[in-house]
Amino acid sequence: MADVKTYKIAVMPGDGTGPEVVNEGKKVLVAVGKKYGFKNEFTEFDFGGERYLKTGETLTEAAIEELRKFKVIYLGAIGHPGVAPGILELGILLKARFALDQYINLRPVKLYPGVECPLKDKKPEDIDFVVVRENTGCVYAGHGGVTRKGSPYEVATQVMVYDRQMVDRCLEYAFKLTQERKKAGKPGKLTLVHKTNVLTFVGDLWFRAFMEMAKRYPDIQTDYNHVDASCMWMVKNPEWNDVIVTSNMFGDIITDLAAMIQGGMGIAAGGNINPNGTSMFEPIGGSAPKYTGLNVINPLAAIEAGRMMLDYLGEKVAAAAIQKAVAYTCTKIKSLSAGKMGYSTSQVGDMVAENI
Ligand code: IPM
Ligand code: MN
Repeated sequence: MADVKTYKIAVMPGDGTGPEVVNEGKKVLVAVGKKYGFKNEFTEFDFGGERYLKTGETLTEAAIEELRKFKVIYLGAIGHPGVAPGILELGILLKARFALDQYINLRPVKLYPGVECPLKDKKPEDIDFVVVRENTGCVYAGHGGVTRKGSPYEVATQVMVYDRQMVDRCLEYAFKLTQERKKAGKPGKLTLVHKTNVLTFVGDLWFRAFMEMAKRYPDIQTDYNHVDASCMWMVKNPEWNDVIVTSNMFGDIITDLAAMIQGGMGIAAGGNINPNGTSMFEPIGGSAPKYTGLNVINPLAAIEAGRMMLDYLGEKVAAAAIQKAVAYTCTKIKSLSAGKMGYSTSQVGDMVAENI
C-alpha cells in the first residue's frame, strides 16, 4: 500500500472554549482527510493560561524552536480570567506571530447564506472580501517606552514602525492574492487602507510603495481609503470591497467590524501566515471563558480556521468541501451565537463532518 499523505499539525487548544472548538475542528479535518485521502498528525502543545499559572511560562524559546518544525499550527484561543490582560496575548499569541515572522494576517469576510447580517438589505453576494492585515509591524512592534512613570509628567510612546521591505512583502502578498481571486471570478480590486492625511510619514511610505507596486500589476484595479472612511463604507457598501490591504493596528480594528457583518465571532477565522515558514490558523474570537465546558460555543470559526489551513497546505478541494459543509450548517443552525444555535458545540461539529 502506498504511504498516505500526512500533514503534521501543531495544535495549541489554549484557554477557555479553545479546546472545545479545536476538537470540533479536528473532527472535521479527520473526516475530510478520510474522504480525500490524507491523514493529519496532531501534536498538542499546552500553552495558555493554565500552564502560565502553574509554571509562569508563556511561549518559551524551546517551544518556538519546536513549532518551527511544523508548517502549520492550529490555535484555539488565548485568554484566561485569572491572568492579567497582556501577559498571554504578548507572551503567546504575539510572540508566535513575531518569532515565526508570520507577517500576513489573512482574514476572509464572507456572509454565508442563512446567516443573519446586521446590515439591512445586505446579502451574501454583497459581503465577500478579504482583509490582508500586516502582522509584524506598526504599534505592535514594541518600540517606545515610558519615563517619569506615575508622576504627573509621565511620558509614554508606542511608535508606529514600518520599513520598506515589511510594507513591500505585505503588499506583494495582497497583489498576488487579488490576482488569484480574479482568476476565480472576483473583481480583482485591491484597496489600500491607511491614514495618509495624518500619518504623513508612515502612511506616505505605504502609499508610495503601493502605487509603485501597482505598476507591476496592471490587471489589478487599485483604490485607497482612509481607515475611518473604510469603516463607514464597510457598513454602507461592503460590496465595494474585494481585497483590502492595511497595516497591523488598522487591520486589527477593521477586522472586528468586518467579523460582525459576516455574522460575528462565531464564524470569523484568520491565518497568521509566513509563506516561507510556520503559519498559524485561529478563530479570531476570544476564549469566551463564561461558556467554557458548557458545549454551547459555536465551533464554526475554528472549523473555518481549519479550512483555511488546508487550503494553505494545498488541499484546495478538501478545503472547498469544508466550506460547502459549513455553508450548509449555517442554514440549519438557528443563530451563530453561543447558546442560541439550537444545537450543541459537538452537534454542530458533527453536522459539518457528516456533510463533507
Ligand atoms: C487579534 C487580537 C490580538 C491582536 C490581541 C489578542 C493581541 O485582537 O488577533 O486580532 O491585537 O492582534
Ligand atoms: Mn483583534
